[in-house]
Order: sequence, then structure tokens, then C-alpha cells
Amino acid sequence: MSLLDDVEKTLISQVAIEERIAQLGAEMNAVYTDNDLPLLVCILRGAFIFMADLTRHLAFRHEVDFMVISSYGKGTTSTGVVRILLDLAANIEGRHVVIVEDIVDTGHTLSYILRNFKARNPASLRVATLLSKPSRREIEVPVDFVGFEVPNEFVIGYGLDFVEQYRNLPFIGVLKPEVYQSQV
Ligand code: IMP
Repeated sequence: MSLLDDVEKTLISQVAIEERIAQLGAEMNAVYTDNDLPLLVCILRGAFIFMADLTRHLAFRHEVDFMVISSYGKGTTSTGVVRILLDLAANIEGRHVVIVEDIVDTGHTLSYILRNFKARNPASLRVATLLSKPSRREIEVPVDFVGFEVPNEFVIGYGLDFVEQYRNLPFIGVLKPEVYQSQV
């Protein structure tokens, strides 16, 4: 059985994602200049493919950094309890910072990260996310650059996982119900 056999449907195609990320890059190019020298912070692991594609559409000078976050809870629900497994290498005090996320679902993870970052006194703080599931939001979080809004379904691919797998699929899709059920 190949990975693709587990996929029920494609929600967003590879081409649509590539086009949208180019547009997000253009939106960000209209906001930042070389002088800002922003720091793009990739929230691992889910945002690694989005970050790699986004950064190549940016025309302004910038730096990148990485943070590993773990949301407690297995399977398809996050509990809102967040742990930092690996912190930033950079000191963000006085820096322009862009948090790069894979998906904002309930908003708890991003809310935690925003609070944590604000306490470090950045010059500015914005958020870019590939996906947003507004219907699931439990806590309001400001998001500046959104790739796509998705319905209330658990999605995989383009960096997003189910039980640490399927991140390599080049599109955003939904798995067959029996695949999710087999892991519960
Ligand atoms: P939140 O705290 O509920 O907003 O969840 C944020 C994190 O949960 C994301 O960064 C993802 O790692 C994970 N997550 C939420 N929804 C999905 C999904 O549909 N597919 C894969 N991961 C998801």
C-alpha cells in the first residue's frame, strides 16, 4: 500500500499552493524592506516545506530561525498545552519577526507562541500561515498572511502530518476515515 492509497481526496493542488505562496511572497514584499531585516521563524515541524517555498519568493533581506513546538495530544486534536522543545537561536529583542506556521486551528498554539514572543520585546510581530481553519477557532489570534482557509477537516501534506506521516505529500489532502480510525 502506498501513501497515496490512504488519501481520500485532494483539497488544494500542488499548483494552487505554489501560486498562492508566490502571492504571499508578493504581499510580504510590499510590507518589508531590506532595512527591516526581518527574522522569519519557522515553527517545526509542520511549517518546514511552506517556509522553504515562501523564503524563495521574498525580495527583501531577511534571516531565518527555527523553533520546535510540541502540542500535547496525539492524533487529530490538540489540547492547547504547548511545549518548546527547541528554542530560537536568535535574540529577537528589537527585531522585526514573522512567525511562519503550517495551520492555525483552535488558535491555542499560536496564542502561546505570540505571548512568548511578545515577552521578548520584538520591534514588530506578524504571522504567516499556509492554512487557517476559522470554524475551529477557540481563541482569537491575529494572522497577517494566510494562504488558504480550509473547512473543518483534518488535513495532511505539504508539511502537515498525521501521526508524523504524510508530510511529504506535495498537495493538501484528507485521509480516508479508516486511516484516522486505525490510529485512535
Ligand atoms: P491549534 O493549537 O489548535 O491552532 O493547532 C495548531 C497545530 O495543530 C498546528 O500547528 C498543527 O501542527 C496541528 N494541526 C491542527 N490542525 C491540523 C490538521 O488539520 N492537520 C495537521 N495538523 C494539524
